Amino acid sequence: MNRNLLATGLLACSLLLGACGGKEEAAAPTLYDRLGKTEGIASIVDGLIANVGAETAVPNSVMLRSHKPMLDAVNGVNGQAPTDPTRLQRLRNNFVDQLGEATGGPLTYKGLSMLTAHRGMGVTAKEFSVWREQLEASLNSNKVSANDKAELYVIIDNMYNDVVGH
Ligand code: HEM
Repeated sequence: MNRNLLATGLLACSLLLGACGGKEEAAAPTLYDRLGKTEGIASIVDGLIANVGAETAVPNSVMLRSHKPMLDAVNGVNGQAPTDPTRLQRLRNNFVDQLGEATGGPLTYKGLSMLTAHRGMGVTAKEFSVWREQLEASLNSNKVSANDKAELYVIIDNMYNDVVGH
C-alpha cells in the first residue's frame, strides 16, 4: 500500500516535472547567436577588413589616408622590416570581441574606447560612410538578414559621434 502510494507519488512528480520542463521556453536567440556566434562575427570582421584593405589599394582611395599608419607598421615601408606586424591582427581580435559583447554574446571587449581609438585620425563623415559600405558588403556576403543588419547598424551608428571628427 505504502509502496504503491510512493510509486504513484513519484509518477505524478515526474509527469509534473516533465510537463514543466516541456513548457520551459528556450531563451530567444540574441543578435550574437543569429550572426553565427563568435565564428560568424569573425567572418563578418574578416570580410570588412578584406574589403577595407582592397579599397585602400584603389586609385583615389578614401580609406587609405586613415589606415596608412597601420598598413605601414604591418607591411614595412621601402623594404624596411614591419615595425608592428601584429597591429592589424590585434585590431581584428578587438573588433570581434567588441561586436561579440555588444550583440549580447559572452565576449569581453578589452580594447580602447572608440573615442580614444580614433582620436587624432580626423575621420570624416565621408570616410565613415565608405567604411560602412565595406561593412555592408561583408554583411551581404555573410548572408546576414535585413533585420539583423538593421539591429547591428543601431549599435554601429551609436558610435558615430565617438569615431568621426576627432
Ligand atoms: C562604428 C564604426 C567603427 C568601429 C566600431 C570601429 C572599431 C575599431 C576598433 C575596435 C579599433 C581597435 C581599438 C583598439 O585596438 O583598442 C579601431 C581602430 C581603428 N579604426 Fe575603427 N572603427 C569604426 C570606424 C572606423 C572608421 C570609419 C575608420 C576610418 C575611416 C576607422 C579606422 C580605424 C583605424 C585606422 C584604427 C587604428 C588601427 C591602429 O592604428 O592600430 N575606424 N576601430
